[in-house]
Amino acid sequence: MKIGSSKSKIVDAHKDQNITKAVDILTKGGLVAFPTETVYGLGADGLNAKAVARVFEVKKRPSFDPVIVHVGTRDDAFSLWGEKNQLASELMNAFWPGPLTLVMSRSERVPDIVTAGLPTAAVRMPDSEIALRIINELGHPVAAPSANLFGRPSPTTAAAVQEELGDGIDLILDNGPAKIGLESTIIKIEGAKCTLLRPGGIPVEVIEKICRVDQPVVDSHFSPEAPGQLQAHYAPNTQFTVMDKSYENLSREMQHLYDACQHRGVAWPKIGLLSMRKKENSSWFQVQRALTEKGDKAEAAARLFQEIRELDKLNLDLIIAETIDEAGLGLAIMDRIKKAAGGKRGIEKFFAMGEL
Ligand code: TXA
Ligand code: MG
Repeated sequence: MKIGSSKSKIVDAHKDQNITKAVDILTKGGLVAFPTETVYGLGADGLNAKAVARVFEVKKRPSFDPVIVHVGTRDDAFSLWGEKNQLASELMNAFWPGPLTLVMSRSERVPDIVTAGLPTAAVRMPDSEIALRIINELGHPVAAPSANLFGRPSPTTAAAVQEELGDGIDLILDNGPAKIGLESTIIKIEGAKCTLLRPGGIPVEVIEKICRVDQPVVDSHFSPEAPGQLQAHYAPNTQFTVMDKSYENLSREMQHLYDACQHRGVAWPKIGLLSMRKKENSSWFQVQRALTEKGDKAEAAARLFQEIRELDKLNLDLIIAETIDEAGLGLAIMDRIKKAAGGKRGIEKFFAMGEL
């Protein structure tokens, strides 16, 4: 098979022959999008620098942004790090396979391009039978960022991968919607110290049963250690902003703005509301998407990126996302929402920018 020239193809991940095909493509240095429990990944042989270079190319990812390496065993993880670490072993025992990525100093085994020249490597063992089969049958770790263009929301379905990366991929394995829907939590370990680099599928409170987790304060002057910490990320094309007030206050403000529009003879913009639970009295909005019926954060996390993607297709003037409390998975959900808004908060900016 000629790698890189065929059109992207979505195939059923449950068919053995498709797994074989995926492994064959990876062995030859090609790219395969595959399901994990968090989001879909764009995989390449993690020990093949040329194959990983193609991942950067297809994603239009800047070369300073390192990728996560996916392993099938703990030994494999340690072979990518230059050190043994007690805390890492405890965290692996507690959460692997699962949505926890650990960052530690790297070994010589990892190609420079994978770590973007950093002295550390990010490694995780996905909780996905399909992903683990691919890694084990390939016999090498699989380097895989989320299978989206750089800076865009991560794909939680095979169709979203197809939309994002189209012809750049050799094969897309379809396993239905990702179970968790948010990327892994990233923890950096230095000796006995744990630092949160990205909130994700495992809440910090749960990790704290094993180690205290330092949470760096991110402000506008923050120089990120990893671009996943950039303030603008996961962004739709539509203007996107965070609702930094109660829904009652927002409704009052909407009424006020609506009156002003009427007065000035200006058309009311098409606004989408992305809320945790369904809101009554939402006539200001052209469309409303609620992330969960009963306020379940796991359900909200699983649907977040897909709902953002769907709202993005509706040609709206603005999407307003509701703020939720940051306990448990709320921290990761709000992290993605704030970054999708590019660090901007409040609807005032939109209305003040003369877009009405
Ligand atoms: O759930 C996930 O983690 C998904 C699935 C596919 O496994 N992967 C994922 O990869 O989200 P990606 O590339 O979209 O995000 C990886 C993040 C980036 O923000 C990158 O900067 C950071 O991990 N990262 C990778 N290596 C790092 C390192 N050595 N030190 C610090 N951050 C690192
Ligand atoms: Mg990503």
